[in-house]
Amino acid sequence: MTATATQDGDRTEMQHWWQDAVVYQVYVRSFADADGDGIGDLEGIRRELEHIASLGVDAIWLNPCYPSPQRDHGYDVADYFAIHHEYGDLEVFDRLVADARTRGLRVLMDLVPNHCSDQHAWFRAATAAAPGSAERARFYFRDGRPSADGSDPHGSPPNNWMAAFGGTAWTRASDDDPQWYLGTFTPQQPDFDHTNADVARMFAEVFEFWFDRGVEGFRVDAITPVGKDPDLPDAPPVPPGTDELQVAWENPHTVFRPEGHDVWRAFRTTIDSYMAAHPGRDLMMVAESYMNARPDLVRAFVNPEQFHQAFAFDLLLSPWDRAQIERAITDSIDIVETGATPTWALNNHDVQRIVTRLGRATATDPASVTNNALGAQTSPVDLDVGRRRARAAIALAMAMPGSIYLYMGEELGLPEVLDVPDERREDPVFLHTDGAKIGRDGCRIPLPWTDDPATSHGFSSPGDAGTVAEPWLPQPEGWGERAVQRLDTDETSMPALYRELIALRRDRAVAQRDPVELLDLAPGLVALRRGALVVLTNVTSSPIAVDALGDVDGATPLFSSEPSEMHTPGVVPPDCTVWLVDDVE
Ligand code: NOJ
Repeated sequence: MTATATQDGDRTEMQHWWQDAVVYQVYVRSFADADGDGIGDLEGIRRELEHIASLGVDAIWLNPCYPSPQRDHGYDVADYFAIHHEYGDLEVFDRLVADARTRGLRVLMDLVPNHCSDQHAWFRAATAAAPGSAERARFYFRDGRPSADGSDPHGSPPNNWMAAFGGTAWTRASDDDPQWYLGTFTPQQPDFDHTNADVARMFAEVFEFWFDRGVEGFRVDAITPVGKDPDLPDAPPVPPGTDELQVAWENPHTVFRPEGHDVWRAFRTTIDSYMAAHPGRDLMMVAESYMNARPDLVRAFVNPEQFHQAFAFDLLLSPWDRAQIERAITDSIDIVETGATPTWALNNHDVQRIVTRLGRATATDPASVTNNALGAQTSPVDLDVGRRRARAAIALAMAMPGSIYLYMGEELGLPEVLDVPDERREDPVFLHTDGAKIGRDGCRIPLPWTDDPATSHGFSSPGDAGTVAEPWLPQPEGWGERAVQRLDTDETSMPALYRELIALRRDRAVAQRDPVELLDLAPGLVALRRGALVVLTNVTSSPIAVDALGDVDGATPLFSSEPSEMHTPGVVPPDCTVWLVDDVE
Protein backbone atom coordinates (compact mmCIF):
# COMPACT_ATOMS: atom_id res chain seq x y z
CA MET A 1 0.00 0.00 0.00
CA THR A 2 1.38 3.39 -0.86
CA ALA A 3 0.98 6.70 0.86
CA THR A 4 -0.54 8.64 -1.99
CA ALA A 5 -3.30 11.16 -1.60
CA THR A 6 -6.24 11.29 -4.00
CA GLN A 7 -8.10 14.37 -5.09
CA ASP A 8 -11.83 14.54 -4.58
CA GLY A 9 -13.22 17.87 -5.66
CA ASP A 10 -11.35 20.46 -3.66
CA ARG A 11 -10.60 18.00 -0.86
CA THR A 12 -7.70 15.68 -0.59
CA GLU A 13 -8.73 12.46 1.10
CA MET A 14 -6.16 10.54 3.03
CA GLN A 15 -5.87 6.83 2.52
CA HIS A 16 -4.17 6.07 5.79
CA TRP A 17 -5.01 7.09 9.32
CA TRP A 18 -1.48 8.23 10.05
CA GLN A 19 -1.29 10.69 7.18
CA ASP A 20 -3.16 13.38 9.09
CA ALA A 21 -3.09 11.98 12.63
CA VAL A 22 -2.46 13.87 15.83
CA VAL A 23 -0.23 11.62 17.93
CA TYR A 24 0.46 12.09 21.64
CA GLN A 25 3.94 11.08 22.79
CA VAL A 26 4.08 9.41 26.19
CA TYR A 27 7.45 9.37 27.93
CA VAL A 28 6.45 6.37 30.00
CA ARG A 29 8.80 6.99 32.90
CA SER A 30 7.34 10.43 33.56
CA PHE A 31 3.67 10.22 32.62
CA ALA A 32 1.90 8.59 35.58
CA ASP A 33 2.96 6.17 38.29
CA ALA A 34 0.28 3.71 39.37
CA ASP A 35 2.27 1.82 42.02
CA GLY A 36 3.87 4.60 44.01
CA ASP A 37 7.52 3.81 43.23
CA GLY A 38 8.16 7.26 41.75
CA ILE A 39 8.51 5.86 38.23
CA GLY A 40 5.84 6.08 35.55
CA ASP A 41 4.37 2.82 34.28
CA LEU A 42 1.85 1.32 31.87
CA GLU A 43 -0.87 1.10 34.52
CA GLY A 44 -0.34 4.80 35.05
CA ILE A 45 -1.03 5.41 31.38
CA ARG A 46 -4.22 3.37 31.68
CA ARG A 47 -5.15 5.47 34.71
CA GLU A 48 -4.83 8.70 32.75
CA LEU A 49 -5.94 7.58 29.31
CA GLU A 50 -9.01 9.77 29.58
CA HIS A 51 -6.85 12.90 29.59
CA ILE A 52 -5.18 11.86 26.36
CA ALA A 53 -8.47 10.86 24.75
CA SER A 54 -10.08 14.13 25.85
CA LEU A 55 -7.62 16.06 23.73
CA GLY A 56 -9.06 14.41 20.64
CA VAL A 57 -5.83 12.79 19.43
CA ASP A 58 -5.71 9.71 17.22
CA ALA A 59 -2.85 7.72 18.69
CA ILE A 60 -0.24 7.49 21.39
CA TRP A 61 3.44 6.81 20.87
CA LEU A 62 5.19 5.16 23.79
CA ASN A 63 8.86 5.90 24.32
CA PRO A 64 10.79 2.63 24.69
CA CYS A 65 9.30 0.44 27.39
CA TYR A 66 11.35 -2.71 26.79
CA PRO A 67 13.54 -4.25 29.51
CA SER A 68 16.50 -1.96 29.90
CA PRO A 69 19.15 -0.98 32.43
CA GLN A 70 17.91 2.58 31.74
CA ARG A 71 21.31 4.02 31.00
CA ASP A 72 19.63 6.06 28.27
CA HIS A 73 16.14 5.59 29.65
CA GLY A 74 15.04 2.77 27.44
CA TYR A 75 17.08 3.63 24.36
CA ASP A 76 19.36 0.88 25.62
CA VAL A 77 17.18 -2.15 24.99
CA ALA A 78 18.09 -5.41 26.70
CA ASP A 79 15.23 -7.43 25.19
CA TYR A 80 13.00 -6.36 22.31
CA PHE A 81 10.25 -8.85 23.17
CA ALA A 82 9.14 -7.88 26.66
CA ILE A 83 8.23 -4.97 28.94
CA HIS A 84 10.58 -3.30 31.41
CA HIS A 85 9.80 -4.57 34.91
CA GLU A 86 9.32 -1.09 36.41
CA TYR A 87 6.68 -0.37 33.77
CA GLY A 88 4.63 -3.58 33.94
CA ASP A 89 4.52 -6.68 31.82
CA LEU A 90 3.02 -7.94 28.59
CA GLU A 91 -0.37 -8.47 30.19
CA VAL A 92 -0.60 -4.87 31.26
CA PHE A 93 0.62 -3.85 27.86
CA ASP A 94 -2.18 -5.83 26.23
CA ARG A 95 -4.71 -4.21 28.54
CA LEU A 96 -3.38 -0.79 27.66
CA VAL A 97 -3.66 -1.45 23.94
CA ALA A 98 -7.22 -2.73 24.44
CA ASP A 99 -8.23 0.27 26.58
CA ALA A 100 -6.68 2.65 24.11
CA ARG A 101 -8.56 1.01 21.27
CA THR A 102 -11.82 1.37 23.18
CA ARG A 103 -11.19 5.09 23.23
CA GLY A 104 -10.29 5.20 19.56
CA LEU A 105 -6.58 5.55 20.21
CA ARG A 106 -3.98 3.58 18.29
CA VAL A 107 -0.68 2.65 19.93
CA LEU A 108 2.74 3.21 18.39
CA MET A 109 5.95 1.92 19.91
CA ASP A 110 9.52 3.06 19.68
CA LEU A 111 11.95 0.84 17.82
CA VAL A 112 15.66 1.22 18.46
CA PRO A 113 17.56 -0.46 15.62
CA ASN A 114 20.93 1.26 15.71
CA HIS A 115 22.01 -0.19 19.02
CA CYS A 116 20.91 -2.25 21.98
CA SER A 117 22.02 -2.32 25.59
CA ASP A 118 25.33 -3.76 26.66
CA GLN A 119 23.13 -6.02 28.80
CA HIS A 120 21.38 -7.54 25.76
CA ALA A 121 22.00 -11.31 25.70
CA TRP A 122 23.60 -11.09 22.28
CA PHE A 123 26.06 -8.46 23.39
CA ARG A 124 26.98 -10.33 26.55
CA ALA A 125 27.58 -13.40 24.43
CA ALA A 126 29.69 -11.30 22.07
CA THR A 127 32.02 -9.97 24.73
CA ALA A 128 32.39 -13.50 26.11
CA ALA A 129 33.17 -14.91 22.65
CA ALA A 130 36.41 -14.75 20.71
CA PRO A 131 37.35 -12.28 17.98
CA GLY A 132 36.00 -13.49 14.66
CA SER A 133 33.10 -15.36 16.29
CA ALA A 134 29.51 -15.36 15.02
CA GLU A 135 28.51 -13.65 18.28
CA ARG A 136 30.78 -10.68 17.61
CA ALA A 137 29.67 -10.42 13.98
CA ARG A 138 26.29 -9.02 15.08
CA PHE A 139 28.07 -5.87 16.29
CA TYR A 140 31.06 -3.82 15.21
CA PHE A 141 34.02 -5.45 16.94
CA ARG A 142 37.37 -4.48 15.43
CA ASP A 143 41.01 -4.88 16.45
CA GLY A 144 42.45 -1.88 18.23
CA ARG A 145 45.41 0.03 16.81
CA PRO A 146 48.74 0.16 18.65
CA SER A 147 48.86 2.58 21.51
CA ALA A 148 50.87 5.76 20.95
CA ASP A 149 53.76 4.60 23.14
CA GLY A 150 53.84 1.17 21.46
CA SER A 151 53.29 -0.63 24.74
CA ASP A 152 50.01 -2.24 23.64
CA PRO A 153 49.47 -3.51 20.08
CA HIS A 154 45.73 -2.94 20.46
CA GLY A 155 45.70 -0.10 22.95
CA SER A 156 44.09 2.57 20.74
CA PRO A 157 40.60 2.59 19.20
CA PRO A 158 40.25 1.15 15.68
CA ASN A 159 39.47 4.60 14.25
CA ASN A 160 38.91 8.20 15.31
CA TRP A 161 35.11 8.22 15.43
CA MET A 162 33.53 10.20 18.23
CA ALA A 163 30.37 9.33 20.17
CA ALA A 164 27.21 11.41 19.92
CA PHE A 165 27.06 11.87 23.68
CA GLY A 166 30.76 12.61 24.20
CA GLY A 167 34.13 10.84 24.07
CA THR A 168 35.35 8.20 21.65
CA ALA A 169 32.80 5.93 19.96
CA TRP A 170 34.88 2.83 20.82
CA THR A 171 35.15 0.79 23.99
CA ARG A 172 37.64 -1.98 24.56
CA ALA A 173 35.92 -5.32 25.12
CA SER A 174 38.21 -5.92 28.12
CA ASP A 175 41.72 -4.89 29.14
CA ASP A 176 43.37 -7.90 27.53
CA ASP A 177 41.06 -8.19 24.54
CA PRO A 178 42.54 -7.11 21.21
CA GLN A 179 39.15 -5.85 20.08
CA TRP A 180 37.01 -2.79 20.67
CA TYR A 181 33.32 -2.32 19.92
CA LEU A 182 31.50 0.62 18.41
CA GLY A 183 28.80 2.58 20.26
CA THR A 184 27.64 5.65 18.36
CA PHE A 185 25.92 7.07 21.45
CA THR A 186 27.48 5.63 24.64
CA PRO A 187 29.53 2.56 25.58
CA GLN A 188 26.35 1.10 27.07
CA GLN A 189 24.70 1.17 23.62
CA PRO A 190 26.68 -1.06 21.23
CA ASP A 191 25.80 -0.60 17.54
CA PHE A 192 24.28 -3.50 15.65
CA ASP A 193 25.73 -4.50 12.31
CA HIS A 194 22.60 -4.68 10.18
CA THR A 195 24.35 -6.51 7.39
CA ASN A 196 24.37 -9.51 9.72
CA ALA A 197 21.56 -11.98 8.96
CA ASP A 198 20.75 -12.64 12.65
CA VAL A 199 20.22 -8.93 13.24
CA ALA A 200 18.00 -8.55 10.18
CA ARG A 201 15.94 -11.56 11.21
CA MET A 202 15.52 -10.36 14.77
CA PHE A 203 14.15 -6.99 13.73
CA ALA A 204 11.65 -8.62 11.38
CA GLU A 205 10.50 -10.68 14.36
CA VAL A 206 10.28 -7.59 16.55
CA PHE A 207 7.85 -5.96 14.12
CA GLU A 208 5.71 -9.09 13.91
CA PHE A 209 5.71 -9.66 17.67
CA TRP A 210 4.32 -6.20 18.45
CA PHE A 211 1.99 -6.05 15.45
CA ASP A 212 0.50 -9.31 16.73
CA ARG A 213 -0.18 -7.51 20.03
CA GLY A 214 -2.08 -4.74 18.29
CA VAL A 215 0.60 -2.10 17.84
CA GLU A 216 -0.10 -0.02 14.72
CA GLY A 217 3.33 1.33 14.01
CA PHE A 218 6.76 2.37 15.19
CA ARG A 219 8.70 5.53 15.67
CA VAL A 220 12.14 4.39 14.51
CA ASP A 221 14.94 5.82 16.60
CA ALA A 222 18.17 7.34 15.34
CA ILE A 223 18.08 6.38 11.69
CA THR A 224 21.03 8.66 10.90
CA PRO A 225 23.93 6.32 11.87
CA VAL A 226 22.39 3.02 10.80
CA GLY A 227 24.57 1.85 7.93
CA LYS A 228 28.32 2.33 7.95
CA ASP A 229 31.11 2.34 5.42
CA PRO A 230 32.18 -1.31 5.78
CA ASP A 231 35.86 -0.34 6.00
CA LEU A 232 35.18 2.00 8.95
CA PRO A 233 37.81 4.53 7.80
CA ASP A 234 38.87 7.47 9.95
CA ALA A 235 36.49 10.41 9.81
CA PRO A 236 37.87 13.55 8.13
CA PRO A 237 38.66 16.53 10.35
CA VAL A 238 35.73 18.72 11.38
CA PRO A 239 35.77 22.51 11.09
CA PRO A 240 37.44 24.20 14.06
CA GLY A 241 34.91 25.11 16.74
CA THR A 242 32.53 22.25 15.99
CA ASP A 243 30.66 21.41 19.18
CA GLU A 244 31.87 18.16 20.75
CA LEU A 245 28.39 16.65 20.49
CA GLN A 246 28.14 17.59 16.81
CA VAL A 247 31.35 15.84 15.75
CA ALA A 248 29.69 12.42 15.39
CA TRP A 249 27.10 13.89 13.03
CA GLU A 250 29.78 15.24 10.70
CA ASN A 251 31.17 11.77 10.01
CA PRO A 252 30.43 10.83 6.40
CA HIS A 253 31.28 7.19 7.06
CA THR A 254 28.28 6.66 9.31
CA VAL A 255 25.81 9.48 8.65
CA PHE A 256 23.00 8.88 6.13
CA ARG A 257 24.92 6.10 4.44
CA PRO A 258 23.50 4.25 1.43
CA GLU A 259 23.84 1.02 3.47
CA GLY A 260 21.13 2.32 5.80
CA HIS A 261 18.55 2.34 3.02
CA ASP A 262 18.87 -1.44 2.69
CA VAL A 263 17.79 -1.73 6.30
CA TRP A 264 14.73 0.49 5.80
CA ARG A 265 13.72 -1.41 2.68
CA ALA A 266 13.88 -4.66 4.63
CA PHE A 267 11.78 -3.12 7.44
CA ARG A 268 9.22 -1.88 4.92
CA THR A 269 9.03 -5.28 3.29
CA THR A 270 8.28 -6.80 6.69
CA ILE A 271 5.52 -4.26 7.33
CA ASP A 272 4.00 -4.60 3.87
CA SER A 273 4.06 -8.40 4.08
CA TYR A 274 2.38 -8.26 7.47
CA MET A 275 -0.35 -6.01 6.11
CA ALA A 276 -0.84 -8.26 3.11
CA ALA A 277 -1.33 -11.19 5.47
CA HIS A 278 -3.60 -9.20 7.81
CA PRO A 279 -6.16 -7.30 5.75
CA GLY A 280 -7.54 -4.28 7.56
CA ARG A 281 -4.32 -3.44 9.37
CA ASP A 282 -2.85 -0.06 8.38
CA LEU A 283 0.67 -0.02 9.81
CA MET A 284 3.44 2.50 9.58
CA MET A 285 6.90 3.60 10.66
CA VAL A 286 8.10 7.16 11.17
CA ALA A 287 11.78 8.02 11.04
CA GLU A 288 13.54 10.02 13.71
CA SER A 289 16.30 12.09 12.27
CA TYR A 290 17.33 15.72 12.15
CA MET A 291 17.23 16.47 8.41
CA ASN A 292 16.65 20.16 8.73
CA ALA A 293 16.70 22.20 5.57
CA ARG A 294 17.25 18.97 3.64
CA PRO A 295 13.96 18.10 1.92
CA ASP A 296 16.02 16.15 -0.62
CA LEU A 297 17.21 13.90 2.17
CA VAL A 298 13.72 13.48 3.59
CA ARG A 299 12.57 12.32 0.16
CA ALA A 300 15.35 9.74 0.07
CA PHE A 301 13.87 8.14 3.19
CA VAL A 302 10.15 8.77 2.83
CA ASN A 303 8.88 6.83 -0.13
CA PRO A 304 6.87 3.68 -0.84
CA GLU A 305 9.91 1.46 -0.30
CA GLN A 306 11.11 2.90 2.97
CA PHE A 307 9.54 5.10 5.64
CA HIS A 308 5.93 6.19 5.66
CA GLN A 309 6.89 9.39 7.43
CA ALA A 310 9.91 11.25 8.81
CA PHE A 311 9.72 13.93 11.45
CA ALA A 312 10.03 17.45 10.15
CA PHE A 313 11.94 19.08 12.98
CA ASP A 314 12.45 22.32 11.08
CA LEU A 315 9.68 24.14 12.91
CA LEU A 316 10.82 22.70 16.22
CA LEU A 317 14.27 24.17 15.71
CA SER A 318 13.14 27.46 14.24
CA PRO A 319 13.71 30.74 16.04
CA TRP A 320 10.70 33.02 16.43
CA ASP A 321 11.44 34.75 13.16
CA ARG A 322 9.27 35.11 10.10
CA ALA A 323 11.83 34.13 7.45
CA GLN A 324 13.02 31.13 9.43
CA ILE A 325 9.49 29.91 10.10
CA GLU A 326 8.56 30.33 6.45
CA ARG A 327 11.65 28.39 5.43
CA ALA A 328 10.73 25.62 7.86
CA ILE A 329 7.22 25.43 6.42
CA THR A 330 8.33 25.49 2.81
CA ASP A 331 10.96 22.80 3.28
CA SER A 332 8.67 20.56 5.26
CA ILE A 333 5.73 20.68 2.88
CA ASP A 334 8.01 20.18 -0.06
CA ILE A 335 7.61 16.43 0.28
CA VAL A 336 3.86 16.68 -0.37
CA GLU A 337 4.63 16.65 -4.08
CA THR A 338 5.86 13.10 -3.70
CA GLY A 339 2.56 11.97 -2.15
CA ALA A 340 3.99 11.93 1.37
CA THR A 341 2.67 14.05 4.23
CA PRO A 342 4.76 16.25 6.51
CA THR A 343 5.12 15.14 10.11
CA TRP A 344 5.32 18.06 12.51
CA ALA A 345 6.54 18.28 16.09
CA LEU A 346 7.20 21.29 18.30
CA ASN A 347 8.52 19.30 21.25
CA ASN A 348 9.92 15.93 22.15
CA HIS A 349 11.88 14.27 24.92
CA ASP A 350 15.23 15.40 23.48
CA VAL A 351 14.81 19.16 23.27
CA GLN A 352 14.01 21.96 25.68
CA ARG A 353 10.31 22.57 25.98
CA ILE A 354 8.96 25.20 23.62
CA VAL A 355 7.72 27.53 26.36
CA THR A 356 11.30 27.94 27.51
CA ARG A 357 12.88 27.94 24.06
CA LEU A 358 10.60 30.64 22.71
CA GLY A 359 10.71 32.57 25.97
CA ARG A 360 14.43 33.13 25.66
CA ALA A 361 15.72 36.64 25.07
CA THR A 362 17.49 35.27 22.00
CA ALA A 363 14.46 33.49 20.53
CA THR A 364 13.81 36.18 17.93
CA ASP A 365 17.39 36.21 16.72
CA PRO A 366 17.23 34.65 13.24
CA ALA A 367 20.58 32.97 13.86
CA SER A 368 19.60 31.42 17.17
CA VAL A 369 19.19 27.69 17.31
CA THR A 370 16.42 26.84 19.67
CA ASN A 371 17.24 23.16 20.09
CA ASN A 372 19.54 23.88 22.96
CA ALA A 373 18.92 20.87 25.18
CA LEU A 374 22.32 19.50 24.36
CA GLY A 375 23.99 22.86 24.49
CA ALA A 376 24.32 25.44 27.16
CA GLN A 377 21.90 28.23 26.23
CA THR A 378 21.91 30.71 29.04
CA SER A 379 19.98 33.73 27.80
CA PRO A 380 17.20 34.81 30.17
CA VAL A 381 13.76 33.24 29.85
CA ASP A 382 10.40 35.01 30.16
CA LEU A 383 7.88 32.21 30.58
CA ASP A 384 4.86 34.44 29.92
CA VAL A 385 6.29 35.45 26.58
CA GLY A 386 7.31 31.86 25.89
CA ARG A 387 3.86 30.53 26.68
CA ARG A 388 2.18 33.10 24.48
CA ARG A 389 4.49 32.22 21.59
CA ALA A 390 4.01 28.51 22.25
CA ARG A 391 0.24 29.00 21.88
CA ALA A 392 0.79 30.88 18.65
CA ALA A 393 3.22 28.23 17.37
CA ILE A 394 0.91 25.28 17.98
CA ALA A 395 -1.94 27.20 16.35
CA LEU A 396 0.23 27.67 13.28
CA ALA A 397 1.41 24.04 13.24
CA MET A 398 -2.14 22.73 13.62
CA ALA A 399 -3.11 24.55 10.43
CA MET A 400 -0.61 22.54 8.41
CA PRO A 401 -1.26 19.53 6.25
CA GLY A 402 0.07 16.21 7.45
CA SER A 403 0.33 14.75 10.91
CA ILE A 404 1.55 16.25 14.15
CA TYR A 405 3.17 14.65 17.18
CA LEU A 406 2.62 16.29 20.56
CA TYR A 407 4.89 15.66 23.51
CA MET A 408 3.13 15.02 26.81
CA GLY A 409 2.99 18.14 28.95
CA GLU A 410 3.12 20.59 26.08
CA GLU A 411 -0.67 20.76 26.34
CA LEU A 412 -0.10 21.99 29.91
CA GLY A 413 2.37 24.64 28.83
CA LEU A 414 5.06 23.08 30.99
CA PRO A 415 8.40 24.85 30.89
CA GLU A 416 11.79 23.19 30.74
CA VAL A 417 13.09 22.64 34.26
CA LEU A 418 16.54 24.16 34.02
CA ASP A 419 17.67 23.79 37.60
CA VAL A 420 17.51 20.05 38.22
CA PRO A 421 20.21 19.53 40.86
CA ASP A 422 23.34 17.98 39.35
CA GLU A 423 23.21 15.01 41.70
CA ARG A 424 19.71 14.18 40.46
CA ARG A 425 20.48 14.44 36.76
CA GLU A 426 20.34 11.12 34.92
CA ASP A 427 20.77 11.94 31.26
CA PRO A 428 23.86 10.24 29.80
CA VAL A 429 24.53 13.49 27.93
CA PHE A 430 25.17 15.16 31.29
CA LEU A 431 27.10 12.21 32.66
CA HIS A 432 29.28 11.63 29.59
CA THR A 433 30.21 15.29 29.20
CA ASP A 434 31.08 15.64 32.88
CA GLY A 435 28.28 18.12 33.23
CA ALA A 436 29.42 20.40 30.41
CA LYS A 437 26.02 19.83 28.72
CA ILE A 438 23.00 19.84 30.97
CA GLY A 439 21.19 17.27 28.85
CA ARG A 440 17.52 16.47 28.56
CA ASP A 441 16.27 15.71 32.06
CA GLY A 442 14.52 19.09 32.21
CA CYS A 443 11.88 18.10 29.65
CA ARG A 444 11.30 14.72 31.30
CA ILE A 445 10.09 15.85 34.73
CA PRO A 446 7.14 13.74 35.95
CA LEU A 447 3.83 15.34 34.97
CA PRO A 448 1.64 17.23 37.46
CA TRP A 449 -1.93 15.91 37.59
CA THR A 450 -3.21 17.53 40.79
CA ASP A 451 -2.32 20.15 43.37
CA ASP A 452 -1.34 17.55 45.95
CA PRO A 453 2.38 17.59 46.76
CA ALA A 454 2.02 14.41 48.87
CA THR A 455 1.49 12.37 45.70
CA SER A 456 4.05 14.27 43.64
CA HIS A 457 1.19 16.35 42.28
CA GLY A 458 -0.85 13.31 41.45
CA PHE A 459 1.95 11.72 39.42
CA SER A 460 2.12 8.80 41.86
CA SER A 461 -0.78 6.78 43.21
CA PRO A 462 0.07 5.25 46.59
CA GLY A 463 1.37 1.71 46.26
CA ASP A 464 0.35 -1.39 48.24
CA ALA A 465 2.04 -0.03 51.36
CA GLY A 466 0.03 3.18 51.00
CA THR A 467 3.20 5.19 50.41
CA VAL A 468 4.58 7.26 47.58
CA ALA A 469 8.27 7.36 46.69
CA GLU A 470 10.00 10.50 45.50
CA PRO A 471 9.66 10.90 41.73
CA TRP A 472 12.66 9.72 39.74
CA LEU A 473 13.36 13.31 38.70
CA PRO A 474 12.39 16.06 41.16
CA GLN A 475 9.44 18.31 40.41
CA PRO A 476 10.15 22.00 40.94
CA GLU A 477 8.30 24.46 43.17
CA GLY A 478 4.99 25.51 41.72
CA TRP A 479 4.65 22.43 39.50
CA GLY A 480 1.08 21.96 40.75
CA GLU A 481 0.08 25.27 39.18
CA ARG A 482 0.19 23.59 35.81
CA ALA A 483 -1.57 20.42 36.92
CA VAL A 484 -4.10 18.86 34.59
CA GLN A 485 -6.84 19.03 37.23
CA ARG A 486 -6.35 22.73 37.76
CA LEU A 487 -6.00 23.73 34.09
CA ASP A 488 -8.98 21.63 33.07
CA THR A 489 -11.31 24.00 34.92
CA ASP A 490 -10.05 27.00 32.96
CA GLU A 491 -11.48 27.55 29.50
CA THR A 492 -8.59 29.77 28.47
CA SER A 493 -5.93 27.30 29.55
CA MET A 494 -3.44 25.54 27.36
CA PRO A 495 -5.28 22.18 27.34
CA ALA A 496 -8.43 23.99 26.25
CA LEU A 497 -6.47 25.56 23.41
CA TYR A 498 -5.18 22.16 22.31
CA ARG A 499 -8.66 20.65 22.43
CA GLU A 500 -10.09 23.50 20.41
CA LEU A 501 -7.34 23.34 17.81
CA ILE A 502 -7.54 19.59 17.38
CA ALA A 503 -11.32 19.78 17.00
CA LEU A 504 -11.07 22.68 14.56
CA ARG A 505 -8.46 20.84 12.57
CA ARG A 506 -10.76 17.88 12.28
CA ASP A 507 -13.94 19.84 11.60
CA ARG A 508 -12.39 21.95 8.93
CA ALA A 509 -10.29 19.11 7.59
CA VAL A 510 -7.34 21.46 7.53
CA ALA A 511 -4.95 18.57 7.79
CA GLN A 512 -6.23 17.18 4.56
CA ARG A 513 -7.36 19.70 2.09
CA ASP A 514 -5.86 22.50 0.11
CA PRO A 515 -2.23 23.29 -0.46
CA VAL A 516 -0.41 25.87 1.63
CA GLU A 517 0.17 29.21 -0.04
CA LEU A 518 2.44 31.59 1.85
CA LEU A 519 1.32 35.23 1.66
CA ASP A 520 3.49 38.29 1.93
CA LEU A 521 1.24 40.66 3.87
CA ALA A 522 3.31 42.50 6.42
CA PRO A 523 6.76 42.43 7.99
CA GLY A 524 6.81 40.11 11.00
CA LEU A 525 3.65 38.32 9.91
CA VAL A 526 3.77 34.68 8.86
CA ALA A 527 0.68 34.45 6.68
CA LEU A 528 -0.72 31.55 4.74
CA ARG A 529 -3.83 30.62 2.92
CA ARG A 530 -5.32 27.16 2.59
CA GLY A 531 -8.46 27.48 0.54
CA ALA A 532 -10.84 29.67 2.50
CA LEU A 533 -8.74 29.43 5.63
CA VAL A 534 -6.23 32.19 6.30
CA VAL A 535 -3.76 31.77 9.15
CA LEU A 536 -1.76 34.71 10.45
CA THR A 537 1.02 34.48 13.00
CA ASN A 538 2.41 37.71 14.33
CA VAL A 539 5.97 36.96 15.49
CA THR A 540 6.60 40.50 16.69
CA SER A 541 5.84 42.07 20.04
CA SER A 542 3.62 44.76 18.49
CA PRO A 543 0.12 44.46 17.08
CA ILE A 544 -0.13 44.34 13.29
CA ALA A 545 -2.98 46.28 11.76
CA VAL A 546 -5.34 44.19 9.72
CA ASP A 547 -6.10 46.99 7.33
CA ALA A 548 -2.58 46.47 6.06
CA LEU A 549 -3.52 42.94 5.09
CA GLY A 550 -4.96 43.58 1.66
CA ASP A 551 -7.11 40.74 0.43
CA VAL A 552 -7.66 39.09 3.81
CA ASP A 553 -9.07 42.26 5.34
CA GLY A 554 -12.69 41.50 6.13
CA ALA A 555 -12.29 37.73 6.58
CA THR A 556 -14.24 36.33 9.51
CA PRO A 557 -12.27 35.45 12.66
CA LEU A 558 -12.52 31.76 13.51
CA PHE A 559 -9.90 31.28 16.17
CA SER A 560 -7.24 33.17 18.11
CA SER A 561 -4.42 31.75 20.20
CA GLU A 562 -5.27 34.56 22.64
CA PRO A 563 -9.05 34.19 22.92
CA SER A 564 -9.49 37.29 25.05
CA GLU A 565 -8.00 39.32 22.21
CA MET A 566 -10.02 37.61 19.51
CA HIS A 567 -12.32 40.50 18.90
CA THR A 568 -9.85 43.32 19.12
CA PRO A 569 -10.88 45.05 15.94
CA GLY A 570 -8.37 45.62 13.22
CA VAL A 571 -5.28 43.91 14.61
CA VAL A 572 -3.38 40.68 14.86
CA PRO A 573 -2.16 40.83 18.45
CA PRO A 574 1.55 40.41 19.22
CA ASP A 575 2.93 36.85 19.44
CA CYS A 576 -0.42 35.49 18.39
CA THR A 577 -1.93 33.31 15.67
CA VAL A 578 -5.39 33.92 14.28
CA TRP A 579 -7.38 31.77 11.90
CA LEU A 580 -9.77 33.58 9.59
CA VAL A 581 -12.27 32.33 7.08
CA ASP A 582 -12.25 34.19 3.86
CA ASP A 583 -15.50 33.25 2.19
CA VAL A 584 -15.03 35.56 -0.74
CA GLU A 585 -11.96 33.72 -1.97
C1 NOJ B 1 17.20 9.54 19.83
C2 NOJ B 1 16.32 9.45 21.04
O1 NOJ B 1 15.21 10.27 20.87
C3 NOJ B 1 17.17 9.83 22.22
O2 NOJ B 1 16.41 10.02 23.38
C4 NOJ B 1 18.22 8.77 22.41
O3 NOJ B 1 19.08 9.16 23.45
C5 NOJ B 1 19.03 8.57 21.14
N1 NOJ B 1 18.24 8.53 19.96
C6 NOJ B 1 19.80 7.28 21.21
O4 NOJ B 1 18.96 6.18 21.09
